[in-house]
Amino acid sequence: MLDRKMLAALNDQVNAELYSAYLYLAMSAHFESMGLPGFASWMKVQAQEEMVHAMKFFNFILDRGGKADLAAIEKPKGTWKSASEMFGDALAHEEYITKRIHDLVALAAKVNDKATESFLQWYVDEQVEEEKSATDMLQKTKMVEKAPGALYFVDREAATRVFTMPAGVTI
Ligand code: FEO
Repeated sequence: MLDRKMLAALNDQVNAELYSAYLYLAMSAHFESMGLPGFASWMKVQAQEEMVHAMKFFNFILDRGGKADLAAIEKPKGTWKSASEMFGDALAHEEYITKRIHDLVALAAKVNDKATESFLQWYVDEQVEEEKSATDMLQKTKMVEKAPGALYFVDREAATRVFTMPAGVTI
């Protein structure tokens, strides 16, 4: 049985992960409008990964006998000045999500919920990757932004990213 505060925090995190998907979809749409389909595709893959993150929390709540409680998803920002500004926002968002995950781990420890602590370890590791991939894209786009030809090649490279469903997840 989940602790009441733990359940509420896990439900909040479902919302935060769905918002992440929404934010990256908004970025994908904006990249399309900038004529950068590779980055748009990269962001769409990112949004799919966020759906997986949300569904893993959702399924875990149900597996533990909790009630999933879905709140409204905040409207994300819709326009950015440049590719690097978008990846800068993506990195800041991932750092925020990392902090949220670490706070969840602290709460699970406080309420002595070993199962939730163990479940959250996947997210602790995943956030290292999330921050790394946003940082890599930020560095690349910053480097080439003043050279449209080079930006074109980075955009093409970004298009090669594909979504892979992690084992054992259904959405
Ligand atoms: Fe679900 Fe990008 O963290």
